[in-house]
Amino acid sequence: MKKKHAFGQKVTIPEENVLVAQALTKTYFQGDVHIKAVDSAYLTVKRGEFVSVIGASGSGKSTLLHMLAGLDRPTSGRVYIAGQDIIDMDDDEFSVFRNRHIGFIFQSFNLLPVLTAKENILMPQKIAGKTYYPNYFNELVEMLGLSDRLHHLPSELSGGQQQRVAVARALINKPDILFADEPTGNLDQTSAKELIDLLLATRADLGQTLVMVTHDNSIAMLADRVLTMTNGVLEEIKK
Ligand SMILES: Nc1ncnc2c1ncn2[C@@H]1O[C@H](COP(=O)(O)OP(=O)(O)O)[C@@H](O)[C@H]1O
Ligand SMILES: [Mg+2]
Repeated sequence: MKKKHAFGQKVTIPEENVLVAQALTKTYFQGDVHIKAVDSAYLTVKRGEFVSVIGASGSGKSTLLHMLAGLDRPTSGRVYIAGQDIIDMDDDEFSVFRNRHIGFIFQSFNLLPVLTAKENILMPQKIAGKTYYPNYFNELVEMLGLSDRLHHLPSELSGGQQQRVAVARALINKPDILFADEPTGNLDQTSAKELIDLLLATRADLGQTLVMVTHDNSIAMLADRVLTMTNGVLEEIKK
């Protein structure tokens, strides 16, 4: 995939590098003070890898993940997903791209409260204008233990069940990459363990690339690679 850069040079991202971030920086200005929430982060994630990010509260993990997933724009730097420069896309182009290629799981589930579990799960498919494959849908909801909860509203589900609906929603379009920002942060210990087991099972089943921010070191260590954030600086830990 070739793409023209601002300076005219062509950038070619190897096929297996599903996520590439270069010199990714986010600066927040508050009056005279500026905070570098993310300070020139470089990251390459290969297809099928599970990468975790740990770090203290306020170190910039969410800011990083939001920029990688295109939910927030960087002050400077580039992000390529499946070879495509996502910073250069306009809003309409990116909205379709995001629904087709990127899955995101939030700490707070972020389900639409007036839609049933099934409607929430199928929403990205509707937006992306993709065909509905009942077999994959059924496989996914069965894997996530949601088959008998499909017609419930989020308010009628436990936290663990709501997050499993969010996982199904994130996976329905078979994204190139799944991001998860402290997905167990609002769950009790039992539901948290259940969710991680399910995430890892779906990941193994689908060969899903996964980038996960977590507070929990024991979860982080399950990953192929572990990164740390310290005051906006991203570094890789040798496992
Ligand atoms: N919208 C914002 N405006 C100003 N500062 C922000 C904003 N969002 C985050 N920050 C600051 O950026 C830093 C990193 O925040 P965040 O990415 O949420 O950290 P983490 O997810 O690791 O807890 C913090 O100092 C935070 O206060
Ligand atoms: Mg955060």
